[in-house]
Amino acid sequence: MVNGPNLNLLGTREPQVYGHETLSDLNARLDEVATELNVSIEHFQSNHEGAIVDKIQSVMGKASCILINAGAYTHTSVAIRDALLGTAIPFFEIHISNVHAREEFRHHSYLSDKAIGVIVGFGLDGYEFALRKAARLVNK
Ligand code: DQA
Repeated sequence: MVNGPNLNLLGTREPQVYGHETLSDLNARLDEVATELNVSIEHFQSNHEGAIVDKIQSVMGKASCILINAGAYTHTSVAIRDALLGTAIPFFEIHISNVHAREEFRHHSYLSDKAIGVIVGFGLDGYEFALRKAARLVNK
C-alpha cells in the first residue's frame, strides 16, 4: 500500500474531511484484514514524488497488487502514472474524500483510467474494501 503526501497527518489533518483515525490506526486495521485474508501487505508513505516512484519500481516482480492513495500527486503526477504503467503491477486508486464533490482541480486523476478500480469518498473503509478485492485477485 502506498500513501502519498500529507497522509502521514491523518487524524489531525482536516478531520472534517479525513476523519479522526491516524495512519497507524489505518495500517493496524489493514494488517488485521490481511491476516484474516491470508495475504501480506507492506505499508509505505512518503511526501516525496520521487520516493513514491522508487518504491513502486522496487516492488516490481514482488508485489501482486498496489493500493495507492497518491494524495495531491493524483492530480499532478505523470511520473507516478508512468511508474505504475512501467511496472505493470495492477493497482487500485483510493481517496478518502469524495474528490468529485471538492475543488475542480481534484476532479482529474492521472491514475484512474489505468486503475482496476477507483474508490472515493468512503473514508478509511475504502482501503479495506480495496484490500479485500485485491486479496481476491491475488488468491485467484
Ligand atoms: C485525497 C484527495 C486529494 O485531492 C488530496 O490532495 C489528498 C487526499 C483523499 O484521500 O481524499 O491528499 O487523495
